[in-house]
Amino acid sequence: MASLSRLSPAIGMVRSQALAPLSTAVRTNTTAPPKKEKTKFGPLSDEDRIFTNLYGRHDWKLKGAISRGDWYKTKEIVEKGHDWILKEISTSGLRGRGGAGFPTGMKWGFMNKPSDGRPKYLVVNADEGEPGTCKDREIMRHDPHKLIEGCLVAGRSMNACAAYIYIRGEFYNEASNLQLAVKEAYDAGLIGKNACGSGYDFDIVVHRGAGAYICGEETALIESLEGKQGKPRLKPPFPADVGVFGCPTTVANVETVAVAPIICRRGGDWFAGLGRERNRGTKLFNISGQVNNPTTVEEEMSIPLRELIERHAGGVIGGWDNLLAVIPGGSSTPLIPKDVCNDVLMDFDALVQAQTGLGTAALIVMNKNCDIVRCISRLIDFYKHESCGQCTPCREGVTWMMKIMHRFTSGNARPEEIDMLYELSKQIEGHTICALGDGAAWPVQGLIRHFRPVLEQRMADYGQQKKATG
Ligand SMILES: Cc1cc2nc3c(=O)[nH]c(=O)nc-3n(C[C@H](O)[C@H](O)[C@H](O)COP(=O)(O)O)c2cc1C
Ligand code: SF4
Repeated sequence: MASLSRLSPAIGMVRSQALAPLSTAVRTNTTAPPKKEKTKFGPLSDEDRIFTNLYGRHDWKLKGAISRGDWYKTKEIVEKGHDWILKEISTSGLRGRGGAGFPTGMKWGFMNKPSDGRPKYLVVNADEGEPGTCKDREIMRHDPHKLIEGCLVAGRSMNACAAYIYIRGEFYNEASNLQLAVKEAYDAGLIGKNACGSGYDFDIVVHRGAGAYICGEETALIESLEGKQGKPRLKPPFPADVGVFGCPTTVANVETVAVAPIICRRGGDWFAGLGRERNRGTKLFNISGQVNNPTTVEEEMSIPLRELIERHAGGVIGGWDNLLAVIPGGSSTPLIPKDVCNDVLMDFDALVQAQTGLGTAALIVMNKNCDIVRCISRLIDFYKHESCGQCTPCREGVTWMMKIMHRFTSGNARPEEIDMLYELSKQIEGHTICALGDGAAWPVQGLIRHFRPVLEQRMADYGQQKKATG
């Protein structure tokens, strides 16, 4: 975990970086020589740290935020207009931090079709329901002005008139701080009519959800925001054409939005100088499970998984050799066993190559003391509970997977059923309205891919025990 002494200089650094004239960002983009690709990633230096109050050790209100460099020259950024902001975001290589990793500059650019008169909206996805994931809440309770300023900048990039921040209902303290920070921003003229004195009008509304995981799916979120049941919509039409209240909408993750202002201040090239090609910037990682110090930390994208755990989370309980497997990107991503964890990098492409994903970058670490079958079975209970029930493969298939996983946990099954379960998961994956079905199928697939002998052994043990007890 980053210590106070490591964070303190960062505050000064970020401020002084922020004070550089905005025009340098434009200049750098046009004249920069071809980049020499890096081969070492992390540890993140303090001057590149974006979230300088991640642990809530400093004042989270407006005064504190301004002292850390937020709201600096926001007026000029807004005045530069959507093309300029989109260019910086595209240059930065930022990919969505909500799980899918879609290029942000391109996605936000979809909103700038010729206007047909309908208002446009930015919707910030602050639902954060993915098990293991707890990064956005740290932004909202400890650095809410980063998100609010991000809303204005992202909103300007798509010429939206307002942002709705849809926050998970259980996040009471986060919603309170956020609401208070929104009021501070209104009172200071930073948002609302003539935001920051830029001539641009922009409102922000905080909307509390009721805590259903499915409401994090962007179209379910839109339905919920409209006051209906949070059930995903069939696409197309995509939200950029028909979103909230029938108007063009972009749904973006809290972290994605919160990093936009600093990218504009320091230039897209700065952000693109961190991480590997196609995997740029800094990233908030959550590390939980069987580690000595579970934490949330901002690191350079592409940092090796092992270094991330050992440097920031105090290592695996019992040492690295006691590691069994890691779920690298929140509960939906397939687990990877220790031999893969030894060398894998924490970024979109490296994890796809390892047959898993970066997802929300929430690592769940499991050591040899854990019952891996029980762990995955528990996750499937969650997906069964959270399925909205619209699609048969998800509603029925995930229920079947749950029942089979319960039997697998005790070993009360036949080895042939392992392939049947795999096939069942494949019948769910890609055959549903939304990605919750995929998210339920992948953990099971990861378990079978890497731990088939454990499943077979458990079935053999169960058979032996049954024979012995008659
Ligand atoms: C079941 C489900 C739950 C999701 N939950 C969240 C969430 O809590 N927060 C989030 O940002 N994205 C979540 N997503 C992804 C969103 O649908 C969407 O892709 C994301 O908000 C886009 O933001 P980005 O472009 O900034 O990544 C979820 C997706 C699914 C299928
Ligand atoms: S995949 Fe599951 S959660 Fe998603 S729409 Fe279909 S039934 Fe609902």
